[in-house]
Formats: sequence, C-alpha cells, structure tokens
Amino acid sequence: NKFTAIVLAAGSGKRMEQEVPKQYMNIGGAPLMSHCLRTFQESKVTQIVLVVAPGDVEKCRKEIIERYHIDKCIAIVEGGEERYDSVYAGLQAINDGYVLIHDCARAFVTEDIIHRCMSAVALYESCVVGMPTKDTIKITDTHRKVLDTPDRSTVWTVQTPQCFEYNLIRGAYDKIMPNADTSITDDAMIVEMATDHDVHMIQGSYMNIKVTTPEDATFGEAILRNRH
Ligand code: C5P
Repeated sequence: NKFTAIVLAAGSGKRMEQEVPKQYMNIGGAPLMSHCLRTFQESKVTQIVLVVAPGDVEKCRKEIIERYHIDKCIAIVEGGEERYDSVYAGLQAINDGYVLIHDCARAFVTEDIIHRCMSAVALYESCVVGMPTKDTIKITDTHRKVLDTPDRSTVWTVQTPQCFEYNLIRGAYDKIMPNADTSITDDAMIVEMATDHDVHMIQGSYMNIKVTTPEDATFGEAILRNRH
C-alpha cells in the first residue's frame, strides 16, 4: 500500500503577527515546516507532497527539502487562496493509495501518530486525529448569549493528519470544490458533505498543537525541549 503525506505550507499565517510567514519561522533552531517534514521522512509513509505558497517552490526546494534531506518529497506544488484550494492542488499531484493530509503548523506530530493514522485509514478509509476536549464547551449566539452546553464526553477537538483512501477524498473534493466556501475548515467536512461514508476519530496527542498565535511558539519550544 502506498501512503502519501500531503503537507500544507501555503498559508499566510496572519494570526502569528510576524514578518516572516509562520511556516518559515524559527522554532527550536529550524523553520517551522521542517519539523513535521523530518518526522514524515523518518516515518513509514511512502512519499510526501509539499504544498507551498505561489512563488515559493524554488525557495522551499533549496531551503527546506534539500537542506533537511527530505528525500521522500516527490513534488512541491503551489497552493491556493484557502486551505481547501491547497489540499486540492496536493491531491492533483497523485492518483492512488492513501493520503495523510497534514497542516505543517502542527509541527510536533509524532511517528506514533502517523503510524496510528496509517493503520486506521487502511481499515476505515476515512479517519481524523483528535483529542477529547479538556474544557467544557458552550455554544453561544452571535451576541455571546449561551445557548447550549454539549455533553463533553462526545466533544473532540480535531487535529491533523486527516486520512483518506485516495478515490474517496478525491471524489468528495471534485464534488464540493465548485461551490466551496470558507465555512469549510477541514477535510473530513468535505467527506461528510459529499458522501455517506463514516469518518472515524482516532487518538492524537495534546502535544500535537497547531502553531497559530504568538504564544504557541513558546509552547512549541517547550514541546521540542521535552522531546530531546
Ligand atoms: O491558518 P491555519 O493555521 O488554519 O492553516 C492550517 C494549515 O493550512 C497551515 O499549515 C497552512 O500553511 C495551511 N494553509 C494552506 N493554504 C492556505 C491556507 C492554509 O496550505 N490557503
């Protein structure tokens, strides 16, 4: 079986409030996007497709892929305006097997998580990594009036990788993309909208954080120190 990691690094990272786009930001002595690429390189995945911002292909080839010896990288493609545009670009670079779609901002994904994903996707064809919420969740209206408190035991926060059999995710994207809008925030939603296939939840890690806002850099440095 062929497993392709599609690594997304085409975002603008506006919430980081930084000069350098966040995927190039230095964390633990290396650019943010190099961390998960090295983990995928060392994992059992077959190959990697890297999706970068338009115009960044050559820079990424030199400064990331060659520099960090990501030999499993078979293609570097340009992403698009929204995350789903970038995923769709990544999907065009391959045509079969299983895909693990991963946000490079989740820099601290581990080989353990990747290998759990590979086993689960071969079994379920569609699975996402997540963790049970530690916090009580409230649903409010647009004026912040609390409307509901869902049962916490069935509420998960969703991470990446999000993993699918290729034809399942490609078919779902082909169907949804002509009318896609920004309410779509992950890949599982596309499968949920386009198919009646179940999406299985698998255990991620509370350390598989997404570097999004400035304080996350501090958490990230701590996670890396704890690992070495
Ligand atoms: O902005 P956010 O952290 O939610 O982005 C999640 C991931 O998707 C990041 O790794 C980012 O680089 C990627 N992305 C992308 N193309 C976009 C928007 C986001 O590859 N147009």
